[in-house]
Amino acid sequence: MDELSILKNSVKEFNMIFDKKYKTSIQSESKWLREAFEILQRATGKQVRPLMVALTCKACGGQLGEKSAESALLLELIHTATLIHDDVIDKAGLRRGVRTLNTIFDNRIAVLMGDFVLSIGLMRAIQLNDIQIISVVSSIGKELSEGEILQMETAEETVLSEQRYFQIIKQKTATLFSAATLLGAICADADNEIKETCRAIGENLGYAFQIRDDIFDYFSVDVGKPTGNDIREGKVTLPLLYAIFNDHSKEQEQCLNIIKTKDFTPSNIDRLIVFAKDKDGVEYARLRMSEYLDKALELCQKLPNISDVPELERLAKFICNREI
Ligand code: IPE
Ligand code: IPE
Ligand code: MG
Ligand code: MG
Repeated sequence: MDELSILKNSVKEFNMIFDKKYKTSIQSESKWLREAFEILQRATGKQVRPLMVALTCKACGGQLGEKSAESALLLELIHTATLIHDDVIDKAGLRRGVRTLNTIFDNRIAVLMGDFVLSIGLMRAIQLNDIQIISVVSSIGKELSEGEILQMETAEETVLSEQRYFQIIKQKTATLFSAATLLGAICADADNEIKETCRAIGENLGYAFQIRDDIFDYFSVDVGKPTGNDIREGKVTLPLLYAIFNDHSKEQEQCLNIIKTKDFTPSNIDRLIVFAKDKDGVEYARLRMSEYLDKALELCQKLPNISDVPELERLAKFICNREI
């Protein structure tokens, strides 16, 4: 069994409740929406955020049940909605190994479908009738969309800065991860200090998760979605940023010029990828990712239910070691 399945198995009952909820979460009069949901059901993705809710809840000494499964579900719905929108923005044709809704239908329909899924997630948050959960969930959309807009703005205006890169990934990715661990702590009725620790664990893992995702883009690997897309869209991620800032060769000048003039022909994209790798950009990104992982692991030591912390630590390590 792979690492992710082992971890899901450690919360088997939770997972069964979650799956059942997920399968019936979207009902509609619309034939198109039913078709879309069937596609989303067939290719569910890794579902690491729901798992993170469960493992954090346990590490805080909480019991898994209805509230944690609902919290996990609403986060996964919000995440799914975000990906539907993200694929419109990134003009991506493949997600979780299947065609994206923007290619099966079109951009306009996909945007509405994303809104529909998002709205279901928000409704379920309200139904939980817990002001803490509502407060966490209500700020997610703002952070995510602002992160995505800032990313487009950064690509458009060719702003090259590590600080900007980290700000973007914090908003577009770490927000959902910190919400997952915070909801896990809330479901365990943890005190404020533990809740803050959990939020920080998720945030650090969110950074690590997105850096891992960005590294995929420099390799032709099958991760169920296109690689090499980031640079094509003008998104200069950590490996290339590092290479650009730390090299002073003629090649650096020319690569910088390609980025500044947005001359992203296929051969220029290859050149940028080779440059980033040759100048240790991928190595540097891995190093930064490990720093976030280490920080998260250190914080895990502060969680009260020591006997259940190892599973959360394993999930944290999976986030960095994963090949999917
Ligand atoms: C994709 O998330 C979006 C990023 C933050 C990179 P996942 O890689 O978790 O996507 P699924 O849910 O497994 O499809
Ligand atoms: C992921 O953005 C974060 C989101 C908020 C959707 P990416 O564009 O990097 O994610 P993938 O690679 O399409 O999954
Ligand atoms: Mg994308
Ligand atoms: Mg990506």
